[in-house]
Amino acid sequence: MLRYPFGAGSHAEYVAAPSRTFVAKPSAIDHVQAGALPLAALTAWQALVDTADVREGHRVLIHAAAGGVGHLAVQIAKARGAYVIGTASEGKHAFLRGIGVDEPVDYRGVDFADVVKDVDVVLDTIGGDYGPRSLRVLRPGGTLVSVVLSNLDDMDTSGVRSETLLVEPDHHALAQIAALAEAGRLRAEIDSVFPLEEAAKAHERGETGRVTGKIVLTV
Ligand SMILES: NC(=O)c1ccc[n+]([C@@H]2O[C@H](COP(=O)([O-])OP(=O)(O)OC[C@H]3O[C@@H](n4cnc5c(N)ncnc54)[C@H](OP(=O)(O)O)[C@@H]3O)[C@@H](O)[C@H]2O)c1
Repeated sequence: MLRYPFGAGSHAEYVAAPSRTFVAKPSAIDHVQAGALPLAALTAWQALVDTADVREGHRVLIHAAAGGVGHLAVQIAKARGAYVIGTASEGKHAFLRGIGVDEPVDYRGVDFADVVKDVDVVLDTIGGDYGPRSLRVLRPGGTLVSVVLSNLDDMDTSGVRSETLLVEPDHHALAQIAALAEAGRLRAEIDSVFPLEEAAKAHERGETGRVTGKIVLTV
């Protein structure tokens, strides 16, 4: 995973970068799988493992659990023994259960903040008012990790921890992600695959905001 977003402003077949940016592709997965994992899985890892220290028995709420970051975060949280609550529209709940979500929440039908409680860790991948609303579901001492911008300035955050994260290259974490993938415990859902020449179409697909898993470019 290249240092992001600085300098990683395009798509390419070859790249020169510092060695800590790379990890060998696990032999058990193909290149489409391998291409789908690094950015989103590292983001999820740095949020749930490095920042929030998710452990066995923790109750974890993952927003946009069917999205690129979210669906890998679900699997990483499950691999650490957490109880996972994930939000998505109802049509994606079977998918959520398939990747290990214990409790899917239809964010269109209910206000998640009314039906979810006593959560140890929230991963906010949506932003806007999701951060402030997520504070209501946290246990005292709980952690809100955001990978997007949310304004908590006027909120009472006493008794909880709130962190905002920008993913960074990390060979050690990537190696652990690769090991999970090799063991079949972490698998990217492939929403769609486009040839590099059609990268613009891939971006259009991403911008719909309805992607399940990851979009991959092939060369
Ligand atoms: N800070 C960092 O280092 C970092 C790194 C990577 C990504 N990001 C950011 O993280 C965000 C998420 O990225 P992503 O690639 O995971 O997104 P994505 O794959 O585009 O997310 C799509 C998913 O979001 C769901 N969704 C949309 N609105 C929702 C809502 N209100 N509640 C619950 N689910 C909702 C959709 O499900 P439905 O179809 O059911 O609505 C869809 O499955 C982006 O803003 C991205 O820029 C930050």
